Amino acid sequence: MNQTFYIKTYGCQMNQYDSEKINQLLKNIGFEETNDIENSDLAILNTCHIRERASEKMYSDLGRLSKFKENKEINGRKMQIIVTGCVAQAEADEILKRSKSVDFVLGPQNFHVLPDILKKERKRFNNFLPDEKFKSLAQLKTDSKNVSKMVTIQEGCDKFCSFCVVPYTRGAEYSRSIEQINAEVINLSKSGAREVTLLGQNVSSYSSKIFSEKKNKKVGISFLLRVLSKIKDIKRLRYVTSHPNDIGDDLIYEHKLNTKLMPFLHLPIQSGSNKILKEMNRKHTREFYIELIKKIRFHVPEIAFSSDFIVGYPGENNRDFEMTLDLIDTVRFASSYSFKYSPRPGTKSSLIKNNISEETSSARLKKLQEVLNLHQKEFNEKFIGKTVEILINSRGRKDCQFTGRTPHLQPVHVFSKRNIIGELMMVKIESLTSYSFHGKILN
Ligand code: SAH
Ligand code: SF4
Ligand code: F3S
Repeated sequence: MNQTFYIKTYGCQMNQYDSEKINQLLKNIGFEETNDIENSDLAILNTCHIRERASEKMYSDLGRLSKFKENKEINGRKMQIIVTGCVAQAEADEILKRSKSVDFVLGPQNFHVLPDILKKERKRFNNFLPDEKFKSLAQLKTDSKNVSKMVTIQEGCDKFCSFCVVPYTRGAEYSRSIEQINAEVINLSKSGAREVTLLGQNVSSYSSKIFSEKKNKKVGISFLLRVLSKIKDIKRLRYVTSHPNDIGDDLIYEHKLNTKLMPFLHLPIQSGSNKILKEMNRKHTREFYIELIKKIRFHVPEIAFSSDFIVGYPGENNRDFEMTLDLIDTVRFASSYSFKYSPRPGTKSSLIKNNISEETSSARLKKLQEVLNLHQKEFNEKFIGKTVEILINSRGRKDCQFTGRTPHLQPVHVFSKRNIIGELMMVKIESLTSYSFHGKILN
């Protein structure tokens, strides 16, 4: 019987992408995936360090896993435990110290060594080797048949927002080459992908060299999007996440001209107060952000925006919080993520004493989410009665039901006797239930 593995993924889409690669690496060397963590031969935790709760969750899961491992050993069987991802990078030594049952600790730029190390001694690998990693993973084939796929085009971040661990866990900004990304997307299209989301912590600063007119030329994300839109079977392109300071005019025009590029932009701002933005080292003002949104809307009227917010950052007073609500009211986001500030080891803001009480943070988060949800509902309601193009990506829960997404990422349920997965359908939106639509296929 083949050896089995189990992967638990925490955190962002970049971790999901890495987990898929790890999954494929292990299948290539004869492992089989299992849902039964307790009896797996190899258990992998692909971890997230972004907020305290994410890290704590992984330590408590690790405790449970250690028990499973002990039980297996009592019965004369073996289990290997691997911690990878962002906690592995940030706290490699602490993990090995806290849990005797962990066999390997692998940072996000090191998991490509996995097939080579499984028989080696307990150790940590946490060097920043994105170039070596992507080269070694380039030939990896996928056996997933998903319609919507993610592709990491960039790793790391050079922005150093005062609250954020990403520059420490993922390392410096690194962009993959256009050729490598193009080859990966072509491969995905051959195995059924119709939509690709380009991933990175800061994809708007993507940069790669191409050889043109007898010299090396630097190109950005807009050029990459144009190249990828030439792949016939790829019908939709998306990208996430962007920093307001790096949205160039070329990207705005790409939205205007490239019909495969979806009219949706996730543009985190974190706070609407200039004082807090400065403290956070975001390097832009609320006015700059609002003007940028205006400019993009002028050129691409159908575009919708989403954002990330942090409440309770040290020093945030009621007025600062009101400024955030006011910004939200001005922009009106289609959807958003919002979090309570969590001080993270190694970051600049963790050195500032946090003067905001838990109650205040909770109350602000609640208020913020009420407003964001209301705007989301208003945004969605405008679609009722309209005809929208939907990319069908999976079966629904009911018989003959299928689920897809609008260009603005809203989920839609439709009925069809024929299997329509992977197809673009014109759908009349009939009703809205919480966050998803029900509609009728017209074509
Ligand atoms: N690169 C992206 C996202 C980074 S992490 C960006 O620049 O926006 C995703 C989100 O997690 C951030 O946008 C922020 O809202 C939130 N986040 C990051 N660090 C945090 C912290 N210490 N406490 C609370 N939320 C945090
Ligand atoms: Fe973190 Fe800021 Fe970089 Fe985003 S831009 S990953 S919030 S440091
Ligand atoms: Fe978490 Fe690392 Fe992503 S810290 S949010 S898994 S980049």
